[in-house]
Amino acid sequence: MTTDVRGGAVLGTFLHAPRPERLDVLVDTLICVDEAGVISRVLPAFSHEGERVLNELGERVIRLPDGHYGLPGLVDLHVHAPQYPQLGLALDEPLEVWLQKYTFPLEAQYRDLDFARERYSVLVADLLAGGTTTALYFATQDRAATEVLADLCIAAGQRALIGKVAMDDPAACPPDYRDESAEAAVRDTRAVIDYIRGHADNGEGRVLPVVTPRFVPSCTDAALEGLGQLARDCDCHVQTHCSESDWAHNYAFERFGISDAAVLDRFGLLGRRSVVAHAPFLSEADMDLLVERGSAVAHCALSNIYFANSVFPLRQALEKQLHVGLGTDISGGPSASMWEACRTTVQVSRMLEEGVDPALPAAERGRGTGRVDLVTAFHLATAGGGVALDLPIGVFAEGYRFDALAIDTRAVDGGIRLFGQTEPAAVFEKIVYGANRSNVAAVWVDGICRVDRGRREGAGSGGNHA
Ligand code: GUN
Ligand code: FE
Repeated sequence: MTTDVRGGAVLGTFLHAPRPERLDVLVDTLICVDEAGVISRVLPAFSHEGERVLNELGERVIRLPDGHYGLPGLVDLHVHAPQYPQLGLALDEPLEVWLQKYTFPLEAQYRDLDFARERYSVLVADLLAGGTTTALYFATQDRAATEVLADLCIAAGQRALIGKVAMDDPAACPPDYRDESAEAAVRDTRAVIDYIRGHADNGEGRVLPVVTPRFVPSCTDAALEGLGQLARDCDCHVQTHCSESDWAHNYAFERFGISDAAVLDRFGLLGRRSVVAHAPFLSEADMDLLVERGSAVAHCALSNIYFANSVFPLRQALEKQLHVGLGTDISGGPSASMWEACRTTVQVSRMLEEGVDPALPAAERGRGTGRVDLVTAFHLATAGGGVALDLPIGVFAEGYRFDALAIDTRAVDGGIRLFGQTEPAAVFEKIVYGANRSNVAAVWVDGICRVDRGRREGAGSGGNHA
């Protein structure tokens, strides 16, 4: 079934959510993809024009088999690539202890480039196989290891935005895992930007560099200042953490007398292509500031249960037209699945609305507002991620990249059981609540097939990374 679709088309039923709260169903639809991997037409297959195009393209049309649905690829807006070996571990401490005790020592090991290559290649393959076509990655402090991650994403064909993590404050970062100075943090960040942009195999720019101050507590003023300037000079994406926990939120007030978001803005780190992770403690004014700057929040619902000890007020953010996408926050969140991120987003939004303490009367238990539905969560995991990154992805429409999944609802090892259900909205819910990697039959990025379950099973591989 699956092959590259550049210069061809895919025929089938597609489900996507260009806007919150609304699922669009494209039954018997032909999506034409140009030679660059961009969607050139979306049209009903059994119309006069559809028939004409079908005839014209002939064998260059891929037909999704029965029980398969086309969905946009998933956009993970917050991943710590080096933390993948720690996924599902070490969630017993608060953020500031977890960083020092577990996470910095693990990330420091990536200075060994063989160690890095082995682990990063497993991560990139696993994320693609699970349907994550785009990832916004924090790498590590080490320049060369960050370039290894870029090499692997370029080779695997994943759309990736990658940042060398800047962390230079000796008061907060261990001596064996930090930038030696603010100048070194900026210089190495610039070197990675140049490396990724000049990479011989990255001519289509599928991998992009990101200015990445870890978070305010890890960086000196000079580093924050220099990175803000660099982001402007290089016209780069920016990513960081913001007001993630009570501790991190209060830290900014103690050091600067203003909020985390206001600090980032002071250093020129909030722009149209900035993504701040977590951010449950944003004030109304902080949210308004992000909206004004066109910046986005990576909502990491699962991780926030462990480190934020609160729920990001997503509904409120969306009502303000704040850009939001979803992130797994590997390994602060113990799942690499963006399907799981969608589910948890819905679940914690219900908890925010209804409250959780049974000792309180129902009327006093929660905010009384806050829930989002599954379509909205999926919208954020696809189209919303695209808006956050200012990239044309996550929607099946002319001009968007063909980053797409073929979901096999009948996969024997999958998590979906339809029992004959064919109503598209119900099929959609079954997919997002049930899908696992076995249901992801094919993955295209820029119209190039990067995962083909049929081919994988045929080869009998799977690897052993025990
Ligand atoms: N804040 C600073 N670094 C990190 C990190 O690695 N993970 C999370 N969740 N928050 C952070
Ligand atoms: Fe994080």
